[in-house]
Amino acid sequence: MVGHLLLCIILFLTVQVKDGAKLPLVQKKFMTLNGGQPEVVALGGYSGFFPSSSSSAYDFAHDISMPGTIQYCNVHFSKDNVGFCIAQINLMNTTSIEEYDPKGLKEYNIYGQQVRGYFGVDYPAKLLYENVTIRQNIFTRSGVYDGAPLVAPFQLFEERKKIPARVWLNIENYMFYKEHKINVESFLLNELPRLPDFLSSPEIGFLKSIGAKAGKSKTKLILTFLGLDEVEPTTKKPYGSLIKDLPMIKSFASGIVVPKEYIWPIDKAKMLQPATTLVQDAHKAGISVYASSFANDRLWSYNFSYDPVLEYIHFTDNSEFSVDGVLSEFPSTASEAIACINLDKKAPREVHTLIISHNGASGDIPGSTDAAYDKAIADGADVIDCSVQMSKDGVAFCSDRADLMKTTTAAALFIHRSKNVKEIQSADGVFSFDLTWNEIQTLKSKIESFFPDLPRNPINKYNGKLLTLPEFLELAKTVGVHGIFISIRNAAFLASKKGLDIVGTVSSALSHSKFDKQTLHKVLIESDDTSVLDQFKNVPTYERVLHIQDAIGSVQDQAVQEVKKHANAVHLRRNSITVAENSFIVNITQTVPAFHAANISVYVGILRNEYQNLALDYLSDPYVELATLTVLQVDGFLTDYPHTANLFSRSSCLNEQSPYVIMPVQPGMMFPQEAVAEPPQLSPKDVIDPPLPPVAKTPSPLAATPNKQTSSTTTTLRVCDQSLFYAAVVVILTIYT
Ligand SMILES: *[C@@H]1O[C@H](CO)[C@@H](O)[C@H](O)[C@H]1NC(C)=O
Ligand SMILES: *[C@@H]1O[C@H](CO)[C@@H](O)[C@H](O)[C@H]1NC(C)=O
Ligand SMILES: *[C@@H]1O[C@H](CO)[C@@H](O)[C@H](O)[C@H]1NC(C)=O
Ligand SMILES: *[C@@H]1O[C@H](CO)[C@@H](O)[C@H](O)[C@H]1NC(C)=O
Ligand SMILES: *[C@@H]1O[C@H](CO)[C@@H](O)[C@H](O)[C@H]1NC(C)=O
Repeated sequence: MVGHLLLCIILFLTVQVKDGAKLPLVQKKFMTLNGGQPEVVALGGYSGFFPSSSSSAYDFAHDISMPGTIQYCNVHFSKDNVGFCIAQINLMNTTSIEEYDPKGLKEYNIYGQQVRGYFGVDYPAKLLYENVTIRQNIFTRSGVYDGAPLVAPFQLFEERKKIPARVWLNIENYMFYKEHKINVESFLLNELPRLPDFLSSPEIGFLKSIGAKAGKSKTKLILTFLGLDEVEPTTKKPYGSLIKDLPMIKSFASGIVVPKEYIWPIDKAKMLQPATTLVQDAHKAGISVYASSFANDRLWSYNFSYDPVLEYIHFTDNSEFSVDGVLSEFPSTASEAIACINLDKKAPREVHTLIISHNGASGDIPGSTDAAYDKAIADGADVIDCSVQMSKDGVAFCSDRADLMKTTTAAALFIHRSKNVKEIQSADGVFSFDLTWNEIQTLKSKIESFFPDLPRNPINKYNGKLLTLPEFLELAKTVGVHGIFISIRNAAFLASKKGLDIVGTVSSALSHSKFDKQTLHKVLIESDDTSVLDQFKNVPTYERVLHIQDAIGSVQDQAVQEVKKHANAVHLRRNSITVAENSFIVNITQTVPAFHAANISVYVGILRNEYQNLALDYLSDPYVELATLTVLQVDGFLTDYPHTANLFSRSSCLNEQSPYVIMPVQPGMMFPQEAVAEPPQLSPKDVIDPPLPPVAKTPSPLAATPNKQTSSTTTTLRVCDQSLFYAAVVVILTIYT
């Protein structure tokens, strides 16, 4: 099944990249040692998705990364001197060996550490290759691809599609193997078709030994650095002191692999510190530098805004230096960073999908604050957004929702004013319409995180202040802002129960700022209530956007016609466009073509960089989601991270002519599943709303015309649950038996 799957991928890629693959890569100048493009090294293949060092991981890395990507195999040895690729010496969690040999647990002293587990030196190669399979060792990644046999290093040397293989072998625990009578050099020199292109080791003794035996081979010998305080076994010196003696390293190696922190240190709070001069120093000494280990699904520093591409760029595309290569578990993302991303803010847009901020750049800064909007503008949002809320005394201001508990310090200051307002939400809240604007101004804005393990930058936790609607409209006149997106909720409730005229307030603020008499700025008015949108029909330049809050899978023709009566565009959730099951995308809905047929634009949101927000097919890479939505022809992205959308829109890997293409997701390609029920169809009754009630003179609890119930717009994907685990087991059985 996996074989079939990969064949599909290959066919798909061949179609997509057809002529493109023949074009030379756009040669951008890089400050690498040889001036060329940094190398992408696939650590254990595509180990961010498939179990490390499995053949699926290697195949996928080959198919989806940029041409010339190097396959990296960490070599360990069997009792009878045969090498195999595996992430670590202890086979306990990375393979199925425990099931094969439940009583085989052993303990070895490895460089002064007692290690309990399973080790290659206790088993003959035949047994390992025949009876042991590879497993996903990182529990946040999917286990559905477990069960593949071990890969032998020689398999990586096979030429594919006329592209010569480039192989990197890493030898760990050389001294340990020597003590166990394993002759590593003999395996490398006699059992492989040739020496690999790159041969690395954390042990100087090995590099010197193989260097003496390798003769005139073109193999690059590389010293792998471990943690600064860890001790190199040959010299017994910590790596932190060895790194200071570059000429000594140059005497036996042409390059080094270093953990990322050697180049860009981070402090305890995960803030990026200024870069060291290691890369420049090494280049002066004639030594190449490879940075390790990049992964999209691990928080390393807050400075990268959960955008994995931004992290690579710090290493490959800054004004001081570029590393010569990156060792990555997600080599397609590394490829994007190197082959596609253009940091020039004036570079032409390749993708013209509208970039609409969501509460400003709320991924980095508390939403709807002056600082969040300033950043959204600097980050290249085309349109900045304001979700209008009303204070008790009628001041309109921007904030994500009427309940201020999660986005400000209201819970600490005004908890005694918290209430249950069932028309708005089921949980209690401290609502803006119960506080005066003076009271609201005493609150501090607070950054809101949506994924418990992935908090947003704590350094900005209380940054920025809320803006009134008129202040926001002034800011929107900044050069570079092409439009505003004004969102209106709860209009009927505010009118009837609170005596607050949100529609009138917004209309007059827009007129007062002259947005009704201009065409320079696009003005988008968004609401989930068609009666609200109708109130803005009198200004023909306003684009009216209907927010369809619930997931829909298709749209009845009459519903499209009904939408058309009230709106020029719709705002859909992400899962009204793609259908996911077990966190994998299984289908694409018909919503975009249905609305487009009636000339109704489709904006999709909310997009968030955090990998937990992404279906697994997206490879923990927000650019793959953007590429997929672009192929599906959506007209706008509503995003917490406009910077990422902007980098994407200027990247050069989006058309078929590009040498490297960011691959959109094909439903069911990564993990075929049974057909699943689509979300419901949108029918006309979902679109029609009662007319807005008059604004009550004095708030009266009886004058209620409850508006449509609002529901949370947060989209989260359930990560692997129990049933998926069993599904995985079934898949293993069907694949490998
Ligand atoms: C294997 O997994 C167990 C349970 O998650 C963990 O406690 C142990 O440290 C792991 N061992 C290795 C060698 O990774
Ligand atoms: C693999 O396991 C099977 C079944 O337990 C056994 O018959 C076979 O001999 C094993 N292979 C090796 C090489 O030990
Ligand atoms: C990382 O972010 C912090 C906080 O915003 C900032 O002070 C620091 O200068 C940034 N680091 C780098 C290297 O840009
Ligand atoms: C589609 O709508 C846009 C504005 O929303 C308008 O400018 C354009 O003329 C319309 N096209 C058609 C074919 O109706
Ligand atoms: C995808 O959607 C189409 C059209 O609604 C449906 O016929 C098909 O069964 C769906 N496929 C899956 C895998 O759910």
